[in-house]
Amino acid sequence: MAAAPGAGSVALVTGGAGGFGRALAGRLRERDVTVVLADLDSAQARTTAAGLGAHFEPLDVTDRAANRAVVERVEAVHGRLDAVYLNAGIAGRPDGLLDVDDLLRVVDIDLLGVVYGTEAALPALRRAGGGALVVTASLAGLSPMPSDPGYSVAKGGAVAFVRSMGPRLAREGITITAICPGFADTAIIDPIREHFDEAGFPVLTAAEVAGAMLAAWEQGGPGAAYVVQPGIGAVPYRFQGVPSARTATGETARLPGALLPPP
Ligand SMILES: NC(=O)c1ccc[n+]([C@@H]2O[C@H](COP(=O)([O-])OP(=O)(O)OC[C@H]3O[C@@H](n4cnc5c(N)ncnc54)[C@H](O)[C@@H]3O)[C@@H](O)[C@H]2O)c1
Repeated sequence: MAAAPGAGSVALVTGGAGGFGRALAGRLRERDVTVVLADLDSAQARTTAAGLGAHFEPLDVTDRAANRAVVERVEAVHGRLDAVYLNAGIAGRPDGLLDVDDLLRVVDIDLLGVVYGTEAALPALRRAGGGALVVTASLAGLSPMPSDPGYSVAKGGAVAFVRSMGPRLAREGITITAICPGFADTAIIDPIREHFDEAGFPVLTAAEVAGAMLAAWEQGGPGAAYVVQPGIGAVPYRFQGVPSARTATGETARLPGALLPPP
């Protein structure tokens, strides 16, 4: 049976030394969750983790084997793993120009980092009897940003990955969800922050996003994507269906059973 956030449960947060990671770690520590922050190695990241009462694991999420090694260490040291926040991410160049090298770098971190993190976490979550995978996607994954095609592709891919994996993992008691915040006050918006300030455009606090991330562990629906916006809060995004194929007699065609999620 999957553990709820509380004493005895263990959470791993990638990109954990950043704005959302720090805010989430604070909320989880209030609940006595054992928190492991994984991030690119630096003295600052280590100090940040220590200051939050969290453990630190150096990790570059683009290193597939390193993702597995971190999960193995977490289990070895803390005995179990209940929730994994796949949160590490970067933005692309913010001028809308197509720069393929930049796009590949963003996809490597923001999309493949999520895939590798999921692969690494699943055996441990199964051993824990179930658990939660929470992917920090973005509003850009639902509504692509004209100013950043690489980020839009990566985050759109992350949302599609969560939706694809959701039903199958739910059978194992593992819930995978996506959090899709609008612009929020963290270091990632530093290069474009002045535009928000000038326009008086509202941005989220990291605390608001951390609240949605915590709720996703506690009560997230399999494959769900939660929009987080200033003045709105966190709401499940309702995906519009696509038109189904029609048979020769004009009836709605049913997808072959082998292509459906198992019951
Ligand atoms: N702040 C926003 O406006 C906003 C909105 C929507 C989604 N997001 C997403 O939220 C997540 C967290 O971002 P944030 O807002 O806290 O920004 P942030 O820049 O404060 O934190 C991002 C963290 O990811 C880490 N990171 C970057 N590359 C990494 C790698 N290869 N391996 C491991 N860690 C790496 C960074 O060191 C940093 O600590 C990101 O995925 C971001 O795309 C942010």
